[in-house]
Amino acid sequence: MKGCVGLVLGSGLGSMLDRMEWGETLDFGDIGLPVSGVAGHQGKMVLGRLDGAPLVAMSGRVHLYEGHDAKTVTAGIRWMAERGVGTVVLTNAAGSLREDQPPGSWMALSDHLNLTGTSPLEGGPNFVDMSAVYDLEISEKLRAIAAGHGWHMGSGVYAGLRGPQYETPAEIRMLRTLGADAVGMSTVLEALEAKRLGLRVVGLSCLTNYAAGMPSATLDHSDVMATGKSAAERMIRVLKEWLESR
Ligand code: HPA
Repeated sequence: MKGCVGLVLGSGLGSMLDRMEWGETLDFGDIGLPVSGVAGHQGKMVLGRLDGAPLVAMSGRVHLYEGHDAKTVTAGIRWMAERGVGTVVLTNAAGSLREDQPPGSWMALSDHLNLTGTSPLEGGPNFVDMSAVYDLEISEKLRAIAAGHGWHMGSGVYAGLRGPQYETPAEIRMLRTLGADAVGMSTVLEALEAKRLGLRVVGLSCLTNYAAGMPSATLDHSDVMATGKSAAERMIRVLKEWLESR
């Protein structure tokens, strides 16, 4: 797996696996990783290829809201790093705080707000520099490839909350004031752990709904999953082209 890309699949984005040629497939339970109970999260690590390019895809991350701690939710990142993965692409389903980033669109993370109240770095190492968590060179490349395919990928700040409930309209107004463009319940802890381990980190939010309180916001987990599935198709083609160009 040396130098290979690790792709973490968010809610509803597991269909990206359908586009891969599968090699070895490992169940989380068999490799000491925690298993998620949330619908749309499968609990497997697929070592495979996307048009020839090697790729490790992790489907079935676990979340703080399932009662896991920050160390546990980042176990998959350490597993990949220990095996030589050099770049992680963290995907997620998120609510959009921006009218110009409608459901079905994608946003590359330029930065995040870790509002979970915890960190996988608790207990050390302390004071790791997080001034550039997300690799803008890669995300700009992905955005350019998307543009070449005729669609726009935005970029912005992801606010990571604990959940499990969706936000209130007042919380969304607060997040907007804080500079958030999207909101979700994953990714930030994995990004911190990956950065600490020296990996290149890319974050991609599939915006599945407008956030609470916005005009035409609807918050329903099955809609979130359905929107993710069609958007996943477009993203996997972009990732394919990027992997080929590396
Ligand atoms: N809020 C938090 N997490 C989410 C949302 C949302 O609106 N949509 C998908 N995941």
